[in-house]
Amino acid sequence: MCQIIDGAAVAKKIREEIKKDTQLLLKNKGIIPGLIVLLVGDNPASQIYVKHKVKACLEVGFNSQVIKLSADTSEEHVLQTINKLNLEPEIHGILVQLPLPEHIREEKVIAAISPKKDVDGFHPINMGKLLTGKPRFVACTPFGCLKLLEEYGIDMNGKHAVVVGRSNIVGKPIAALLLHKNATVTVCHSRTVNLAGITRQADILVAAIGKPKFITDEMIKPGAIVLDVGINRLATGKVVGDVDFAAACKIAGMITPVPRGVGPMTIAMLLTNTLKAVNYLYE
Ligand code: GUN
Repeated sequence: MCQIIDGAAVAKKIREEIKKDTQLLLKNKGIIPGLIVLLVGDNPASQIYVKHKVKACLEVGFNSQVIKLSADTSEEHVLQTINKLNLEPEIHGILVQLPLPEHIREEKVIAAISPKKDVDGFHPINMGKLLTGKPRFVACTPFGCLKLLEEYGIDMNGKHAVVVGRSNIVGKPIAALLLHKNATVTVCHSRTVNLAGITRQADILVAAIGKPKFITDEMIKPGAIVLDVGINRLATGKVVGDVDFAAACKIAGMITPVPRGVGPMTIAMLLTNTLKAVNYLYE
């Protein structure tokens, strides 16, 4: 029977540690970590994610606030807002919730964030640092996946890791992290030929596609470790991952559920990165 990887429990432990470290930081240095979340437009999923992020920050003792800008805000205004936040000494982290409205170039906005405040790890400097093996901020979801593997004592050395999905936010950074742990990494995507033939070779399978229940039991090697990054809301309102969980459980060795798998780890890593950002500001 397959073991469930309990992301919610690991995330809770991390949040408790961060809470203690935050209290010490205040006591010893008089500093309160500060995170600003910029939300442009009214994407319903983004609104929920942002609410959870700010709530988690406040719970561990950070200062956190959302700056809400309307969907018709100009790109220039978003860039000006970021420039101001870059200069604020009490703001250690800046997060721009994606996706942005179509008229705003994501690339421009991400590049405007000071790399030292880029707690999402999306800035090209931070992506470059990750790729060269000297990471500063690692994107929260891939970082959370890595922490889960470490927490469960999974040896990545020499294992075949297959990542399905090649996004800048998940697929590419998780591939780099697994590579640095000496896994042999294959990145698959929508144009991959014989996808199931490749995923069936995976000792570690990461599903980051964005399609509900896309990974079926025939695509999984017996005993494989499966990380499901997907968060898909069905018409019924039920949230499911990119993996057909019930079917996968019969064949995988370990699996992350949705919800309570990778999702809570994303927020825990955002807190980790924000605390780390305090140190960079005084570097
Ligand atoms: N949209 C979906 N995931 C993320 C994330 O991790 N960070 C930001 N900023 N936007 C997202």
